[in-house]
Amino acid sequence: MENMNNNLPERDGFASKFGIIAAAAGSAIGLGNIWKFPYITGIYGGAAFIIVYLVCITLIGAPVMLSEFTIGRKAQRNAIGSFKKIAPNSPWFITGWMGFLAAFSILSFYGVVAGWSLDYIVSAIMNKFATMGPDEIGGHFGGLISSAWRPIFWQVVFMAMTAGVVLGGVKDGIEKYAKILMPLLLVIIVILDIRAVTLPGSGAGVSFLLKPDFTKVSSEAILSALGHAFFSLSLGMGTMITYGSYIGKKENLGEVAMQVTIADTLIALLAGLAIFPAVFAFGIEPSAGPGLVFITLPNVFQQMPGGYIFQILFFVLLAVAALTSSVSILEVVVAYFQEEKNMSRTKSVIIATVAITILGMAASLSMGPWSDIKILLPGFGQLNIFDWLDKFSANYMLPLGGLFISLFVGFKMDREDVYNEVSDEGDLSVSYFGAYMILTKFIAPIGISIVFLHNFGLF
Ligand code: PFF
Repeated sequence: MENMNNNLPERDGFASKFGIIAAAAGSAIGLGNIWKFPYITGIYGGAAFIIVYLVCITLIGAPVMLSEFTIGRKAQRNAIGSFKKIAPNSPWFITGWMGFLAAFSILSFYGVVAGWSLDYIVSAIMNKFATMGPDEIGGHFGGLISSAWRPIFWQVVFMAMTAGVVLGGVKDGIEKYAKILMPLLLVIIVILDIRAVTLPGSGAGVSFLLKPDFTKVSSEAILSALGHAFFSLSLGMGTMITYGSYIGKKENLGEVAMQVTIADTLIALLAGLAIFPAVFAFGIEPSAGPGLVFITLPNVFQQMPGGYIFQILFFVLLAVAALTSSVSILEVVVAYFQEEKNMSRTKSVIIATVAITILGMAASLSMGPWSDIKILLPGFGQLNIFDWLDKFSANYMLPLGGLFISLFVGFKMDREDVYNEVSDEGDLSVSYFGAYMILTKFIAPIGISIVFLHNFGLF
């Protein structure tokens, strides 16, 4: 028996294979895919950037995901507890602590952006954009994010929704909602894709995504692709360690990692396919940046037949995708409180949510009333609280976490234990195991080190 301590209640976990995929893919697929991926693809020139991103996902992302699942399922603990259990009396647990910190900082600003999408759902339903020109929509977005109370109100609503799901537990909360919300998301995005590619003039957008122009691939583009691979696949902070600990011993971890990676990539590409044909059909600049979704799309929807419905669908999609991701981030913190601090689930959820929401309020205010408060982040200069949390977590914590996770599985864990976990104690034939170990020991750590050093300005 894995759980030797018979006094402990049976550990909560995922109940079905589809539930595992829905929850883990739900974590991976989020604002990173639908908001960030299209705009950075636009900035870095389209198809060539996508090819680089796919290489990063395959050589580094997928193996790190398998490593996280392996650590979590082997240890049957939260992200910090897993390192303590597998490598007792060693400093490896600091990797888990870094993940804990990253969870705090990511969820605080993530909740703010998700809150903007909730506000946009209401504006879309009220058809507010119908009477606005492009400049006014830009002004509307700027006005929303820089005001004091409105974004905080929606951030609090979103964080309460996140807490509500996590409160239900793994099986009856996270898995239950992911099983409904993820198929819904797929349906909405496919509807948007069909609408986008049937727009007159959409061909230019499709070829932007399919025809690579390698002259546009700068070193910065390569490094951004790698950093985004971590963020998009929810790697480097113990989310997949935590979820891995809820995966049953009979499941094929390599297969789950593969399916989640493919699903995440597919949704990012489908999001690109929903956005770029429309962007090109209406003559909008593809490199418009972070406002691409919030400023550009309402313009596009307005000029589109059936746009009223599509704009509502789109912002619902954004919020749904954000919710299944935010839930996974909160779970990292909650699982730690529950298991290592012996708190009840309810108490853990309340404390974690309140603390993260307060930090998020500061992030939200830093877009407006508190924009004068700047904090130094080496390599990035003086940043407001929102940008600091974003850059600190995505560019420092996640790559560093991914590096340590790879080294931990590659060099600290017993090769035999890793093999047993990946092959379900020898039940599965895992012909890829040798290749996986090479990627984990060498390719991933070297690749990640390059990104990390670059972000420190050393490379
Ligand atoms: N993967 C999520 C996205 O693409 O939006 C964001 C995220 C979730 C990052 C969970 C990190 C994490 F641990």
